[in-house]
Amino acid sequence: MSRLLFTGGKVVTAEGSFKADVLVEDEKVVAIGTDLQANGAETVDASGKLVMPGFIDAHTHMDMPFGGTVTADDWATGTEAAAAGGTTMIIDFALQEEGGTLGGAIEEWTNKASGKAVIDYGFHVAITDLRDDIKSELPSIAEKGVASVKIFMAYKGTPLYTEDEDLFEALQLSKEAGVLVLVHAENGDAIAKLQEQALSRGDTAPRFHALTRPEAVEAEATNRAIRLAEVAGAPILVVHVSCAGALEAIHLAHERGQTVYGETCPQYFAFSYDDLAREGFEGAKYVCSPPLRDESNRPALWNGLRFGDLQIFGSDHCSFNYEGQKEMGRDDFTKIPNGLPGAEERAMTLWTLGVREGKLTENQFVAVLSTNQARIYGAYPRKGALFPGADADIVLWDPELRTTASVENRHGNVDYTPYEGREFHGGPASVYVRGNLVFKDGEVVAERGSGRFIERSFVAPGLEVGV
Ligand code: URP
Ligand code: ZN
Ligand code: ZN
Repeated sequence: MSRLLFTGGKVVTAEGSFKADVLVEDEKVVAIGTDLQANGAETVDASGKLVMPGFIDAHTHMDMPFGGTVTADDWATGTEAAAAGGTTMIIDFALQEEGGTLGGAIEEWTNKASGKAVIDYGFHVAITDLRDDIKSELPSIAEKGVASVKIFMAYKGTPLYTEDEDLFEALQLSKEAGVLVLVHAENGDAIAKLQEQALSRGDTAPRFHALTRPEAVEAEATNRAIRLAEVAGAPILVVHVSCAGALEAIHLAHERGQTVYGETCPQYFAFSYDDLAREGFEGAKYVCSPPLRDESNRPALWNGLRFGDLQIFGSDHCSFNYEGQKEMGRDDFTKIPNGLPGAEERAMTLWTLGVREGKLTENQFVAVLSTNQARIYGAYPRKGALFPGADADIVLWDPELRTTASVENRHGNVDYTPYEGREFHGGPASVYVRGNLVFKDGEVVAERGSGRFIERSFVAPGLEVGV
């Protein structure tokens, strides 16, 4: 039996912070208290560190076909990058392929992950074709431990795009099946028309990606999705909220008493439209959807995290190389694959810009990176918690660690980083998954394939607004 005793650290959970030791036996936390005795356990000196539950990133795209190519990170390099950022579990999007089933997507993603993942994982299924047989199949995914689906209102002209009729029925069916619906809320029809008009004017540069996806198309779709969920009587989760207008729709729903969850992402705090408008074709490195916004949106997004309208901080890690992938859109911004790497930088961005700047407490930091995600996505209390019986997923966070991001020191498989030269103040010193060391002093030490599939079950609304 392996035993570890973390001594002298400050335990930081979503609920509070206190000085305590943490005893781990095999894969579980077995005790938290002051002056715990080692009794033969290996001692880990956590003094000067914050002892936090492992972070969960419920928004990643590993080894996923998108925009005529496949994301640069597979399940080995993608989960290594995540581990290097303090993440001990991801929930990735398994895509239903054209003509395929939901079970087929889960099977395909299981094959992609197995033998490669270095941290634990789960799946959401992205429904792309709600045929009659898929409607009948939907309840069976909950039995497979996959408690959430994603519907795309954007990306018209691709198999991902979903009409309101199907979104609405997916909400109704998911409610019955005990499955949470996640929505990518942007008005696909308006975007398609704006893109067509931009291209016909010869506006082909990367910045037109943002100019053809204005804030109002996100706000409109967010409101529409929320109202459809209201009619269906179903909870809903809006992913990658990027602007004040979309957040306002969520806030108003909370004022009405509706169960709506919201996620935002590091790129909306670290970057802005100005990055998309960089010289030459550099802006392609910053193409993601919803697009990077004007900085004036940031105070609202911080308040969303702080006061609970947004409960989740996910990376939306969707990496493409500059060479050969982002370059596909050199003459036409609509052909630039959408997405940025960010799994490694997620927590460091939130700490540096959020906690150090006094916008969030260390407890809110843990809530939005870990505990809320476990609760909302149905992995709690096994994940997202530090108390006896929980998995020993532990981050020793060094609030004083200083690092500078560079493509040379990244752990993923991407030929650039949008964070090049960015200085972080605070980061993970070491990371444990079920009591096993996976990352220490800048190095991933986990064995590929050691990550495990975690079954989740969505327990309809428990965590409402707030943390
Ligand atoms: O640009 C993004 N976000 N790419 C990933 C796919 C998605 O919409 O989440
Ligand atoms: Zn999306
Ligand atoms: Zn995404």
